[in-house]
Amino acid sequence: MATARTARRGAKFDLEEAVAQAEARYVAAHPKSREIFERNLEVMPGGNTRTVLFFHPFPVVIARGAGARLFDVDGHEYVDWLGEYSAGLYGHSHPVITAAIREALEEGIALGGPNRFEGALAAELCRRFPSLQLVRFCNSGTEANLFAISAARAYTGRPAVMVFEGGYHGGVFHFRAGEGAINAPFPWVVAPFNDLDGTLALLEERAKELAAVLVEPVQGSAGAIPAEPAFLRTLREACTRHGICLIFDEVMTSRSSAGGMQARLGVTPDLTTLGKYLGGGLGLAAFGGKAAIMAQFDPRRPRAIPHAGTFNNAVLAMAAGLAGLARVATPEVLDAHFARGERLKARINALAAERRVPFCCTGAGSILALHCRSGPIRSERDLGPSERREKLQRLLHFELLERGHYLARRGYFTLSLPHTSEDEESLLKALGEFFAARRHLLAG
Ligand SMILES: Cc1ncc(COP(=O)(O)O)c(C=O)c1O
Repeated sequence: MATARTARRGAKFDLEEAVAQAEARYVAAHPKSREIFERNLEVMPGGNTRTVLFFHPFPVVIARGAGARLFDVDGHEYVDWLGEYSAGLYGHSHPVITAAIREALEEGIALGGPNRFEGALAAELCRRFPSLQLVRFCNSGTEANLFAISAARAYTGRPAVMVFEGGYHGGVFHFRAGEGAINAPFPWVVAPFNDLDGTLALLEERAKELAAVLVEPVQGSAGAIPAEPAFLRTLREACTRHGICLIFDEVMTSRSSAGGMQARLGVTPDLTTLGKYLGGGLGLAAFGGKAAIMAQFDPRRPRAIPHAGTFNNAVLAMAAGLAGLARVATPEVLDAHFARGERLKARINALAAERRVPFCCTGAGSILALHCRSGPIRSERDLGPSERREKLQRLLHFELLERGHYLARRGYFTLSLPHTSEDEESLLKALGEFFAARRHLLAG
């Protein structure tokens, strides 16, 4: 009779075997992706220019997209659940977006002067987001956070920035499993996410050094983990008490309603950063907030802070972004979309509960993640390093790809506007099959 220990060893072996077999099937099904990857290895480190798109043994190379579909160079079709890490809210080739780009294209790409879109887009953002009195544009979420932090430091005359374990604010603002090796050299104070007492103690102790507290209302990269409303409210109060700028990184969460998560939760930061879907799928980001802080950038002022950037008012991205907000992502559409994401999350969790597998879906609205473990997940600490879970996530990823569902290896996925209810049913069916086939490994 097998002892509990040998049974556990058996489950471990089975898991390794299952991952190896899934990987072998993946490799066999993607010869062209592999060939391109191997060619790219000669000229790019790891054959890759965007780490988050890499997965072992090599990523799928995408040939084209249409609506909520992706097609790879090996001839497979996928439901696109990655949604370009939330920048793809409109899906691929939305007619309103492509028409706006075409129309703007006729009038020139890089004009070297203020254009007719920037003021209209800024006005729309200020109308929508409670914290935005003045706003400026830039090229990426990383840049938006860099400018927001720098604005807060200049405004307060203090050096340090509080961020949170598991936080991600761009390529040089990485706080998952410790600080990123190439983080921008600001004095960081890293606090425990969703831990009110721990964070407050640290904030009170370091308040005099702190220019800003930078927080994602839903930690995206860490695994779609929502900040608890009481946690954000407490941060708001503490920042007000100590004259610290509260910055909401809404680069991912701005799609949660017309006014982002701040409007949904009724917590208004001093500064907000935006990006991802803002340019309709083209590169565009923004930072803004209280007039007193943002007025530092007013070039008419004697000691104004210069804010440069060749592509800050990129015409095509602005035209696409403005058309998207005005004609597609209306307040009603964004509210309905948030509710739809909540329903999908609830259905996935109900399915896992019904099948009695340790599995959960986290997130808020259309920013979601699948985890091969049971909930609740309140912070990166709950996800801790686990070789077994990492293998389960790999298996899930391979087997969802195999069933035609494209998402991030770590389980992150988004609901985009063109997803249909058939797409949702198909994902639930694929998960049901995964649970049935792999129940002993999930439970192991
Ligand atoms: C919350 C958050 N902030 C900032 C960024 C950085 O944005 P970008 O990739 O446009 O630099 C990201 C990107 O994933 C993000 O998720």
